[in-house]
Amino acid sequence: MIIVGVDGSVTSRAAVEWAANDAFRMRVPLRIVHAVDRSPYQIGKYPNVALPDVLLSEGRRILREAEALARERQPAIEVETHNIEGAPAVVLREQAKGATELVVGSRGLGGFAGALLGSVSMHVAGHVHCPVVVVRGELRPVHGEVVAGVDDSPECEPALAYAFEQAKLRGSALRVVHAWQLPVHAFASEAAVDMDEVRTTQHQLVRDRVAALSKDYPEVRVIEEALSAHPVDALTDASERANLLVVGSHGRGALGSMLLGSVSRGVLHHARCPVAVVRA
Ligand SMILES: Nc1ncnc2c1ncn2[C@@H]1O[C@H](COP(=O)(O)OP(=O)(O)OP(=O)(O)O)[C@@H](O)[C@H]1O
Ligand SMILES: [Mg+2]
Repeated sequence: MIIVGVDGSVTSRAAVEWAANDAFRMRVPLRIVHAVDRSPYQIGKYPNVALPDVLLSEGRRILREAEALARERQPAIEVETHNIEGAPAVVLREQAKGATELVVGSRGLGGFAGALLGSVSMHVAGHVHCPVVVVRGELRPVHGEVVAGVDDSPECEPALAYAFEQAKLRGSALRVVHAWQLPVHAFASEAAVDMDEVRTTQHQLVRDRVAALSKDYPEVRVIEEALSAHPVDALTDASERANLLVVGSHGRGALGSMLLGSVSRGVLHHARCPVAVVRA
């Protein structure tokens, strides 16, 4: 089951389209969820007794529209809708338990004008255990590639497996990107760094990661790329040509207390295409 969160915004419509297409490709049902959030209306002594029903029926309207859009895009999929009271992030977290995937928009109806990512998307990307896909509102032409970011930690394995599966379902090529950087003081140390050796090692790292999975996906064409750049820059660049960018929730550098690594957070803000965050 794929879950998609809707709040009536243009971006969440894009999320519905994305989710409907993925449900079709994966042959799973689609559940469209709207959280009826009363908290913003509890300002001062707001004495409007009719308000609860207004919010519920507004939610039903949003769900009807989203359902119509999903059915129009993918008439063959099974669709259900749920209007649930509660804070959106909490409702979506609850709904995502045991789901195949959770899809949300990068922005919603609220937030400040310049925000690249809303608080609901940020929260679910950091907490939900199933893959979370964050879809951007702007429509762009569909390109061929799925891009996966890998580092030298085992935490990226599930993300790479998800990326292989997505590339297979879409019949597209998979670009595996490993961006690496020397620490700032590398050249100040006594022992000079052998750049050729570093480069070879980094390439080998990508090759090994890919080899572990590609035997299960002989039909997926893989492009391996190891480059010296900041991972957020490298992945954002690659996202220009991609229709999906897949990252793990953590990398090697992550502190235990952090919900999302800095690379995952960075690409969620800056990628030009939908981003899937896959938890280890
Ligand atoms: N009430 C809701 N019910 C279901 N899904 C929601 C709800 N609100 C937001 N979402 C999902 O989260 C996505 C991002 O919206 P989010 O609320 O995070 O951003 P925002 O409204 O721009 O900023 P803010 O953090 O101020 O609310 C939406 O596109 C939608 O998929
Ligand atoms: Mg919002």
